[in-house]
Amino acid sequence: MHVAIDSSFLEQLTAITDGWDGSTERRYCHLCNVSALLNQQLEDINWVGFYLMREDRKALVLGPFQGKVACTDIDLDRGVCGLAARTKESVRVDDVHTFPGHIACDSASMSELVVPLVSSSGDVVGVLDVDSAQKGRFSEDDRLLLERAAKIICEALWT
Ligand code: SME
Repeated sequence: MHVAIDSSFLEQLTAITDGWDGSTERRYCHLCNVSALLNQQLEDINWVGFYLMREDRKALVLGPFQGKVACTDIDLDRGVCGLAARTKESVRVDDVHTFPGHIACDSASMSELVVPLVSSSGDVVGVLDVDSAQKGRFSEDDRLLLERAAKIICEALWT
């Protein structure tokens, strides 16, 4: 597995999402630190960050991230992110060139893992998106790990 995971990763994630005051402003503040932590911990990635559900629920809008400039709005019927948000299922793509409708924000990206963020009421509130310049970078273990991370994030910031 490429993830530099030790037991402290999920503990750090819990620590930096703790104490949310309920405001949108501070949710963004916590998510900024989460994107930084993921960028530090995940090896061989070129982009990691959040797309959050737009108010009209027709599209995702760019949230805190680390990486190159990215597209700002993703319709729910488009891209890997749209698929994960629509189906509430993680999507792991070994080769983005084989994925119909993949949105290439960074032409270096070759593989991608998108995990939905689901609130306690069952609504998709956004997605966590990770890209890599390596084909087949993300394993099932990575998917499980990031799903655990997404659960911690949602329980802390969408309660
Ligand atoms: N590749 C994504 C778009 C977001 S960027 O990767 C940052 C997609 O197809 O939904």
